[in-house]
Amino acid sequence: MSNLEEIKKRRTFAIISHPDAGKTTLTEKLLLFGGAIQTAGAVKSNKIKKTATSDFMEIEKQRGISVATSVMTFEYKDLLINILDTPGHKDFAEDTYRTLTAVDSVILVIDCVKGVEEQTERLMEVCRMRNTPVIVFINKLDREGQNPFELLDELETKLSIRVRPLTWPINMGANFKGVYSLYEQMLYFFKINKTKIESDVAKVSLEDDKLVDLLGERDALQLTEDVELVEGVYDVFSEEAYQKGQLAPVFFGSAINNFGIKELLDTFCEISPIPQPRPTDVREVSPMEPKFTGFVFKIHANLDPRHRDRIAFLRICSGKFERGKFYKHVRMGKDVRFSSPFTFMASAKSVMDEGFPGDVVGLYDTGSFKIGDTLTEGENLQFSGIPSFSPEIFKELINLDPMKSKQLEKGIQQLTDEGVAQLFTLDLGNRKIVGTVGELQFDVIQYRLEHEYGAKCRWVPMGITRACWLTADEKPAMDQFIRLKGNQIAYDKDRNPVFLAESEWMIRMNRENNPAIHFHFTSEFK
Ligand code: G4P
Repeated sequence: MSNLEEIKKRRTFAIISHPDAGKTTLTEKLLLFGGAIQTAGAVKSNKIKKTATSDFMEIEKQRGISVATSVMTFEYKDLLINILDTPGHKDFAEDTYRTLTAVDSVILVIDCVKGVEEQTERLMEVCRMRNTPVIVFINKLDREGQNPFELLDELETKLSIRVRPLTWPINMGANFKGVYSLYEQMLYFFKINKTKIESDVAKVSLEDDKLVDLLGERDALQLTEDVELVEGVYDVFSEEAYQKGQLAPVFFGSAINNFGIKELLDTFCEISPIPQPRPTDVREVSPMEPKFTGFVFKIHANLDPRHRDRIAFLRICSGKFERGKFYKHVRMGKDVRFSSPFTFMASAKSVMDEGFPGDVVGLYDTGSFKIGDTLTEGENLQFSGIPSFSPEIFKELINLDPMKSKQLEKGIQQLTDEGVAQLFTLDLGNRKIVGTVGELQFDVIQYRLEHEYGAKCRWVPMGITRACWLTADEKPAMDQFIRLKGNQIAYDKDRNPVFLAESEWMIRMNRENNPAIHFHFTSEFK
């Protein structure tokens, strides 16, 4: 098969949702449909139910054994589908944001009872930054949810994206009868069903008398009215607008009951984008280019202290990746090769001899990778658009054992390379400040420093709420600002100056008083 054919076969996406909306269930059902797993319950939830370190560690250990959950690949209708797993817990949101840089589209799951929730809004902000195409799946129709029109309005206003329903529900909760596919003119009948993967269907137009026989007079009338309203209010579905990330098609269903999944998956296969071009610091890289390029978007720690190796997940962006071949590690300026890269076909790990754009390769790493690192066939370019976001909680790292300062230094450097948290250093006294989006990471880091590196630490909370990356039109202005602000200036791992702000007000005031300095809320500001 030619490279072009390989590329056209691939679809790489992530399922995102607020925790509990049904992401794990939907993932599992898609795998079930794709034949990648045979029984429900095979996909381990990566959900952290309690906010406890031990719980997290337990899950991470399980995942360490079965890293397959990070990427799930299956074949369906001659396509090779890669689902990239994203952590549901809000404390790990940054991990999810980064995974979104490696996909070409997303499926967003919404709980019909709860509607658009906080985490959904944040995730969609990231999708909008990159114009990622989105399909919405409104889940749990077997429960008494909100009115579908209200749900769609909420999606449009809270997520700032136009929507277009492609199926329409007939009631909800105890009276839920199924959905009507507006394009196929097909009724899908709902049954409580946790095992069978196909629903009963009937092809019927809304004008057909059969509709009343199938649904009863009241529901048939309601459906006809609803559909009339839908057709009146929403523009016809445009694949182009979807691919540009401007319009989200919407499906209704019940993941746990295998209901609505097939229509979702079939439409996904039809409309979702093939592997897309990606920006670098010098030019855009097209997947069709003959030479291999790729970038690391996730690093998975091995929590077994006897094996300190890690796994770097690399998204292939162009060309062909081949096992055993030398590639350039651009940041380090050296050639590297991998004798046992692996992939995740049918949820089992297997050696990957070659990979194509859209694929994710797992690479064993002994500490040479950082999130965002690029591999090429010699060209000097770095993939961009993998930003760090400002953390929300900041604490100073205090070494509790002076004999172990080397271990602590190495540990914190490596853990922050993995993207567990961000590290900022104050020039004065080389003080280390760690920033995260959730409290849980501090426990995780402390635990891992002790168990993997033998270094003990404690945390001192700091009165900082935001980190702003700084740039200036002229160097003297920056030098002066840095001198003036003293301990409010720290450096990130790439020695970029960062302003540590106590409050939004502080940022505003400093912005006003220093017009030559530019404040940025993500690490990428080209
Ligand atoms: P998440 O990954 O987005 O966090 O959600 P997950 O799939 O774990 O689903 C969250 C809960 O919602 C689970 O129940 C799951 O069984 C339930 N669920 C998923 N889809 C549907 C649906 O279509 N209808 C209904 N009624 N429930 C659904 P749980 O009690 O938290 O877990 P479990 O004990 O059932 O595994």
